[in-house]
Amino acid sequence: MSGPRHYLIETWGCQMNVHDSEKMAGQLSTMGYSPTSDPGAADVILLNTCSVREKASAKVFSRLGALRHLKRDNPDLVIGVCGCVAQVESAAILRRAPHVDLIMGPRNIARLGELLEQARRDGRSISLAREDDPVVFPSATAARGAGPRAYVTVMEGCNKTCTYCIVPFTRGREVYRPVEQVLDEVRHLVTLGYPEIELLGQNVNAYHHGPADFAALLHMVDRIPGVRRLRFTTSHPGHLRHGIVRAMRDLPSVCNHLHLPAQSGSDAILAAMRRGYTRDRYISRIDLLRSAIPGITFSTDLIVAFPGETDEDFEATLSLVREVEFDQVYAFTYSPRPGTDAAHLDGTVPEALARERLQRLLALQEQISARRNEATIGRTFEVLVDGASRLSPTTLQGRTTCNRIVHIPAGTATRAGFLNVRITRVHAHSLTGIPAEGATAA
Ligand code: SAH
Ligand code: SF4
Ligand code: F3S
Repeated sequence: MSGPRHYLIETWGCQMNVHDSEKMAGQLSTMGYSPTSDPGAADVILLNTCSVREKASAKVFSRLGALRHLKRDNPDLVIGVCGCVAQVESAAILRRAPHVDLIMGPRNIARLGELLEQARRDGRSISLAREDDPVVFPSATAARGAGPRAYVTVMEGCNKTCTYCIVPFTRGREVYRPVEQVLDEVRHLVTLGYPEIELLGQNVNAYHHGPADFAALLHMVDRIPGVRRLRFTTSHPGHLRHGIVRAMRDLPSVCNHLHLPAQSGSDAILAAMRRGYTRDRYISRIDLLRSAIPGITFSTDLIVAFPGETDEDFEATLSLVREVEFDQVYAFTYSPRPGTDAAHLDGTVPEALARERLQRLLALQEQISARRNEATIGRTFEVLVDGASRLSPTTLQGRTTCNRIVHIPAGTATRAGFLNVRITRVHAHSLTGIPAEGATAA
C-alpha cells in the first residue's frame, strides 16, 4: 500500500461509546493512520455501535449494507463492527454481513491494533470479551474532540440487572480503574489545557477502588489545580450516597447539574424494571440535592410503555416530571432487547398508544423547559465556550455550570474559555446571551 492510510469511525450511543471512539482513533493515529470523513477514501471503517434499543441495532445492519459496495471496489478496505452490537450480535453480523473483517467488543478496545493486523493478515479477526478478561483502559493516546471538555473513563460495565437493559450483556460486570490512573490522566489533561473533566461510567457513582469511593474520587480530582469544572455520568439513584451530595455541595469544580435517570414515576413499573428504588425515594434524593445545592438542575431518562404500563402508571410518570421539573428529559418508548428478562413479559403496550404517551410526555416537558428557560432571561451565567455554535459559524456556543447551552452572537465575543453572559433570549433547548464582563455570574 502506498501513501498514508486513513480511517473513519462512525459512532452511535452514549458518551462511553463516544469516548471509546476517541480511544480507538488515538490508537489508529499512533499506528500512522489519519482521519477522513470520506468513506471512499478510508482504508479502515469502524462502526462503533449501540444496542440499547432495537432501532439503534438495526441501523448497524443497514449501514453495513450501504458500505458493501466500497469493499467490492477496494478489497483491502477493512470494515469493523465495534461496540455493544459487536459484543452481543457477532453471529448475526457474520451471517448478514460477511464483508465485515473485524468484530470487537467494548471491553477489548485496547486490542484494536493487533486485531487490525490480524484482519489484514488472515482476512478476519474477532475479539469478544469473556467475563474474566482483564479490561485495559487505553486512555493515554485518546484522540479527543475539539472543545474544552475531556472525558475520562473511571469504570467499565454495569452490575445492575434492570430487566429491560442490554448494557450488562454488552459491557459486562463492573471493573474500576485505579485512582492513581484516573488522577494521572486528569493531571495530563489539565496540562493539555482542558478546563472541564467529565468522569464516565455506566454506573459512575458506584465507583470504588481500595478505600476510595466515588465521593473520595471527586475530592481528589477537584484538588488537581486547573480542573475548573467537573461533571460525571451516568449516576444511579440507588448509589447517590450522602458523601456524594456533600462533595457536590462543597467542591468548587463540581457542576450544578446532575443527570439522574428515573425511568418511570410508577412504583409498580419501577419494581418490574428492577430499578431498586421507589418514586418517593427518587424524589427524596432530588429534594436532598436541591436543599443542599441551590440552583442545581436535573436531567433524566424515562422509558414509556414498559410492558404492563397502565394509564395510571403513565400518569405517575407525567406527575413525576411535573413535580421534579427537570431541565431536560431523554424519553424513548420501550424496546424489547434479546436476552433481557423484560423481553418475556406480557402486557405489551400497543405501538400507537406507546407513541401517543411519548408525545404527551415530550409535550409536557417542552412546557416545563420553556418556563425554566424563560426564568433565565436577564440573569448572568458563567459560560465555558465550546466553539462555533450550530446556529451559525460566527456564533459561539458554550455551557453554563447547570449544563444549559448558551449561544453568543457574532461580534460580541471571540475568545474561547470562560465568559460571563447575560441571557437575552430563549429557545426550545438553548439560550442566547451577550457577554457581561464585570457582572457576577450565577
Ligand atoms: N446506566 C444508565 C443508562 C443506561 S442506557 C442508567 O442506568 O440510567 C441509557 C438509557 O437508555 C437508559 O437510561 C434508558 O432510559 C434507556 N434504555 C435502556 N434500555 C432500554 C430499552 N430496552 N428500551 C428503551 N429504552 C431503554
Ligand atoms: Fe442498564 Fe440499569 Fe445498568 Fe443502567 S443501571 S446500564 S439501565 S442495567
Ligand atoms: Fe448503547 Fe452500549 Fe452505550 S448499548 S447506550 S453504546 S453502553
